[in-house]
Amino acid sequence: MLRILAEQQRAAADLLPREVHDYYATGSGDEVTLGEATAAWRRYRFRPRIGRDMTTIDTAIRLFGDELALPVLAAPTAFHRLAHPDGEVATIRGVHRAGSLLVLSSRCSRRIEDVAAAATGPWWFQVYLYAEASIGRQVVRRAVDAGAGALVLTMDTPYTAAKRRLSGVPVTDDDYLVNFVEHLPAGVDPFEATTQDPACTLDALHELTGHGIPVLAKGVLRGDDALACLDAGAAGIVVSNHGGRQLDRAVPTSDALTEVVAAVSGRVPVLVDGGIRSGLDVLTALGLGADAVLVGRPILWALAADGAAGVTAALDAVRDDLAAGLALAGATSPADLPAGLVTPVPR
Ligand SMILES: Cc1cc2nc3c(=O)[nH]c(=O)nc-3n(C[C@H](O)[C@H](O)[C@H](O)COP(=O)(O)O)c2cc1C
Repeated sequence: MLRILAEQQRAAADLLPREVHDYYATGSGDEVTLGEATAAWRRYRFRPRIGRDMTTIDTAIRLFGDELALPVLAAPTAFHRLAHPDGEVATIRGVHRAGSLLVLSSRCSRRIEDVAAAATGPWWFQVYLYAEASIGRQVVRRAVDAGAGALVLTMDTPYTAAKRRLSGVPVTDDDYLVNFVEHLPAGVDPFEATTQDPACTLDALHELTGHGIPVLAKGVLRGDDALACLDAGAAGIVVSNHGGRQLDRAVPTSDALTEVVAAVSGRVPVLVDGGIRSGLDVLTALGLGADAVLVGRPILWALAADGAAGVTAALDAVRDDLAAGLALAGATSPADLPAGLVTPVPR
């Protein structure tokens, strides 16, 4: 793990109330998948290329028409006001100062319009479907109207898995309901109405494509599922096991990435998240065929440790580490990676 990320994580552990820290840190079940996540990226080694001019390195990429300073996005994570009083407004400022992109969670703790007003770059909106479907539809409409550049449907969460270190989410009702309250039909229980709809189907994915912006499927761990999502209209795939918070013992995303990249075969961008903690982890993911990666918990620790400035510092450090890795691997940019850069460590 990069030193600054480790320092921010330690600072956050000191600053945050115990139950908030544990809400962010925890995985599901016995935390087998969580425990494997970071180590899985280290099971690969590089085959660097030599003999080229590495004077100028450019980490920038283009994704759905937007230029990003680095191929690293902030993953959708819930309730940033638990980490910082400004919540997602601070996060998006920090992310955009680093030239990155925020995927705003459906379970954000600031009004979507307030986060959008603080944006100085592109952002996407992560979608959950709720027991009361009309609420989700209205929230998505607001995100699109507020300027979301893409929708990311999280498909690995028909139910929220039980978390070992957790007896409830330590969020206030106001923060939990901030984007829902105006859409609640009369007489419904607000918390029941906004629990996950277990029927998050390919039809639901297809319905989202009607908004006219790209729709990505998040939570894909199999090549056949990736192809089914493309058939339903997905414009991108996010390989993810939800940071080890849904099905425990799900495969590491580095393993699933190889299968999904092979199946998708360049038709759409493939993104990946889970345990990515350095530029070399990013380089490994790119070498395995990802177009970009997302980071989850490091953004939360950075936000808790130092607000927007902490988020910028974390992303800048990952960018610098990636630039150094690219140069030493013999690539001037993510698009310039040599074929066969990454190989599994022989067992
Ligand atoms: C505290 C927390 C909350 C999360 N909330 C969401 C969410 O609201 N929607 C979603 O699609 N994924 C959510 N995720 C999963 C992340 O988007 C991402 O897949 C995961 O955190 C990546 O792993 P990493 O934390 O090891 O980088 C959450 C993850 C954490 C740690």
